[in-house]
Amino acid sequence: MKKTVLLGVTGCVAAYKACEVVRGLQKAGLRVKVVMTKNATEFINPGQFRALTREPVAVGTFDDAPGDPIHHISLSKEADVVLIAPCTANVLGKIANGIADDLLTTTAMATTAPIVLAPAMNVNMYENEATQHNLMILAERGVRIVDADSGYLACGDVGKGRLAEPADIVKTVLDVLEVKRDMRGKRVVVTAGPTVEPIDAVRYISNPSSGKMGFALAEAAADRGADVVLVTGPVGLDDPEDVEVVRVKTAQEMFNAVDGVFADSDIAVFSAAVSDFRPEQVVDRKLKKGSDDDALTTIKLVENPDILATMGEKKHADQYVIGFAAETENVVENARKKLETKHADMIVGNPVGESKGFGADDNEAVLVTKDGESHLESMSKRALADRIFDAVLS
Ligand code: PMT
Repeated sequence: MKKTVLLGVTGCVAAYKACEVVRGLQKAGLRVKVVMTKNATEFINPGQFRALTREPVAVGTFDDAPGDPIHHISLSKEADVVLIAPCTANVLGKIANGIADDLLTTTAMATTAPIVLAPAMNVNMYENEATQHNLMILAERGVRIVDADSGYLACGDVGKGRLAEPADIVKTVLDVLEVKRDMRGKRVVVTAGPTVEPIDAVRYISNPSSGKMGFALAEAAADRGADVVLVTGPVGLDDPEDVEVVRVKTAQEMFNAVDGVFADSDIAVFSAAVSDFRPEQVVDRKLKKGSDDDALTTIKLVENPDILATMGEKKHADQYVIGFAAETENVVENARKKLETKHADMIVGNPVGESKGFGADDNEAVLVTKDGESHLESMSKRALADRIFDAVLS
């Protein structure tokens, strides 16, 4: 079950940055529930967090929470960690001094989960003796503080008080929750998406790979601390955070990009649906029906380089190479054949068909190695990515 971060958002200009924190926590596989102070709603609408988290957003102590008469207690028990980001001088002071006069501060007082605070305020408020004293009290009590950054502040002053980078806040929460960072120091290459092989200026050969599987693999490796290069064919997905993304079109371009980074990698995962063939001739204008009939009805194909097989052959003893096999039948047998012919250490066989595999959010797989097979039930592509890396590391 996913761990829950209860994110408290307080009344501060930096409240909008809490959205980025939410995304970062979710990408690390955590569930996020948001509690806002009344002042925070002056800066950002609860609907924003409701949409991002797909969870109700709590504000008032006495607001109706259906079936939950003592809301602050149930919220405090649900949390594996309470994070307050941004945390104003006021809320910081209240928590340090045991004042609980709204939903967020009563929840913070009631929780037995670890608390992480990311202060954000004007430089003079930050440097005020009261704030510094409160920070000291909280640190002594074991509250983790993600220290504010220095720089230009919203009020025009320059100094310390700017909310820490969302990535640093997420990192602290992951440390507190002891979320796996077991791929630190590993270099990982991932291929994703389809390739596109042009016929003429407007037509091409391709397939419906969405890139979701490959992007999930890249994200999972990065979240676990790896340095990741993601080589992807054309897809409509945003670059994952902390991942070097190389966007390519054709199989030959994907080959060249992978060839440039493979030697330095520890783990390479080939989840792309690479076109095995490409048209021998590419016409640089749009072929016309009628006048160019031959060129359109008879397309001579030549074979593309097999990226996985080439890298599999080149790999040295310390490298681990994983291929994928999208199969409509005989998944294990076909995956095992690919394990041998492509010199891979593991093939992830995944059944594909209507609403399975290509484009879907979930995937079902069997991990095939020379030692045997491990069948995995259908799960999110992100969860599967983690299971694949768990298997590699073990
Ligand atoms: O992108 P999604 O919508 O999330 O869909 C994910 C997926 C279904 C595309 C993915 O899970 C998957 O199964 N990818 C492999 C598709 C496939 O079956 O490829 P293949 O059987 O043609 O190739 C087998 C392996 O060789 C794959 O690792 C492939 O990346 C690799 N290969 C193939 C041909 C080639 N020229 N170069 C290669 O590297």
